[in-house]
Amino acid sequence: MPAAIDPEIIDRIRSLRKTLHQHNHRYYVLDDPEISDAEYDRLMRELIQIETDYPALASPDSPSSRVGAPPLAKFDTIAHTIPMLSLDNGFADDDILSFDKRVKRHLNLESEIVYTAEPKMDGVAVELVYENGRLFTASTRGDGFRGEVITANAKTIRAVPIVMRSVDQSVMPSRLEVRGEVFIGIEPFKNWNSERIDQGLPPYANPRNAAAGSLRQLDSKITASRPLEIFFYGVGLVEGYEAESHWELLQALQNWGFRINPLIRPRITIDSVLQYHRELSEQRHQLPYDIDGMVVKVDSLSLQRQLGATSRSPRWAIAYKFEAIQETTVLENIEIQVGRTGVLTPVAHLKPVKVAGVTVSRATLHNEDEIEKKDVRIGDTVLVQRAGDVIPEVVKVIRSKRTGAETHFTMPDHCPVCGSDVVRIEGEAATRCINSSCSAQVKERIKHFASKGALDIDGLGDKLVDQLVDKGLMTSFADLFKLKRETLAGLERMGEKSAENLVNAIEASKRVHFARFLYALGIRHAGEHVALLLAENFGSLEELVGCSQEDLEKIEGIGPVVADSIGGFFKQATNLSNIRSLLDNGVQIVFEAGKKTGPCEGKTFVLTGTLKDMTRRQAKEMITAAGGKVSGSVSRNTDFVVAGESPGSKLQRANDLGVPVIDEAEFKELISS
Ligand code: IVH
Repeated sequence: MPAAIDPEIIDRIRSLRKTLHQHNHRYYVLDDPEISDAEYDRLMRELIQIETDYPALASPDSPSSRVGAPPLAKFDTIAHTIPMLSLDNGFADDDILSFDKRVKRHLNLESEIVYTAEPKMDGVAVELVYENGRLFTASTRGDGFRGEVITANAKTIRAVPIVMRSVDQSVMPSRLEVRGEVFIGIEPFKNWNSERIDQGLPPYANPRNAAAGSLRQLDSKITASRPLEIFFYGVGLVEGYEAESHWELLQALQNWGFRINPLIRPRITIDSVLQYHRELSEQRHQLPYDIDGMVVKVDSLSLQRQLGATSRSPRWAIAYKFEAIQETTVLENIEIQVGRTGVLTPVAHLKPVKVAGVTVSRATLHNEDEIEKKDVRIGDTVLVQRAGDVIPEVVKVIRSKRTGAETHFTMPDHCPVCGSDVVRIEGEAATRCINSSCSAQVKERIKHFASKGALDIDGLGDKLVDQLVDKGLMTSFADLFKLKRETLAGLERMGEKSAENLVNAIEASKRVHFARFLYALGIRHAGEHVALLLAENFGSLEELVGCSQEDLEKIEGIGPVVADSIGGFFKQATNLSNIRSLLDNGVQIVFEAGKKTGPCEGKTFVLTGTLKDMTRRQAKEMITAAGGKVSGSVSRNTDFVVAGESPGSKLQRANDLGVPVIDEAEFKELISS
């Protein structure tokens, strides 16, 4: 007879399992952790130790099953009680309005139908079966009728409850088949993919493939190491619980510990559905995960039952897809563009193609290494991608379309604009033109100088700068302040009125905040954020010019590379004489008069997510104007994290460290107090 186990051990194992399930739920489902990762790991190690010492106490419900089980030889398959159908697709408002009409016609109803709209996650569908609150099996969608059993893998996903939470025992289903989408976030995907590249492993093409690949590992320990997440969106068969509406069901799921997408819009009219689609298609590029559209569902479950399904898809739901952000086209040529800092960027000239509503005829190829890595050749058929405001890029070559007539591209050894030598510094991907007077560099520097975050000169467009430089009217920043109305009026596409407006705008830009002035200089690695840090830490230009590398590195947020670049910039005689002539030509730098005072005095802020009523830059300016500082990352020294919509990992970190988080309304209140 096996020796009896000390009841204290049994108590401890019970309490550890309960605590770990609870903390897991707080962290992954509620996004509101109570203990540190280290503490969680310590409890998990203690549990695993006890389970190893007392194998008789092993249980499939243990939180320790999240670390993975012994590898399988192959996956079993299982039938879904209710088939996992697919969805009809719509691509325009009209398709959704027709869907609404079809629904009404089918139901013989004239009144407004109530819908619930949800982001359509671009991941992998799974079904989890719970019996009496315990995870029993997990399977993939498969062909919709049968899927592969991936229970051990699903358990490694921390947002998958191993045991359902019982808030109210009376409404706990005895059997619950719950469905959701497994995915990997964009940042975790990038980090993990670049680790793969470093290890010489083939990278995954996108987060969806990575999620699918991770879920189909025979060794669940591999799955456990992948940053998989899940949102739940529906059910199959449910026994012992009944809801009246989809939204009620989703809330019940949430109460039982299943994570649902916070962006779901419950109970809205068809007009609001269309409005929400517009909002979501803007917002999608800021979301930390990929979505490929939204799903519109009739909210009432009794109406859903009346509508039923075709063999392929339910009649009560439709996917309203976003326009594709990737298309294929032919790469006709590769041209070199010379940037502000002399970097030579290869740019693909494409056969024009519509991507997400915009015609794309150029796409960046980044640098020589990228061309080599992707093996891009002139004449290739390529996949191009456009996401948000980002410059379109060539994702990959469609090799099957090669004819053999494609030609290789080689980086020039002279600058295509000024003919000077080009260099590629060891360890850097960029090739640079060494001539800082190269007209391409001069043009880009001036465009940057006049841009929104810098001197913000209205009416000085790119074409005009090109003309001014080409005509020899401008070789440095200071020349801008010498421009005469008559000269400008004589240029192409300029009239008397626009010339006068421009002269006035140039005049008005002369008084400039120190931070904007520093940003305008176009110092390598000194973007708006670094420029703000410099302006906050130095009371005058002389102080900054005379400071040492160590002084710069002492500033939180400035590392050695940035410090080196700033130090180097102010050591160059041409840069100093350029600054001198700006001041000689009437530019007045506005410095902060000593330490600023205001409601944010001495406080450090971190911004995350999208703000509704202001841009990030405006928020930063408001904070500094009120005496506060803005930092790029959350630390124990952060006073407030301002969280807009769809906040990123900074919010998580703030919660981990117990840093106060405020929303946009609270932020505005604080600033104006
Ligand atoms: S509801 C009857 N809701 O889209 C089908 N699906 O094309 C009900 N998906 O296989 C599906 N997000 O993998 C639904 N919020 C969401 C979804 C969603 C992503 C996927 C799911 C499904 C596919 C259908």
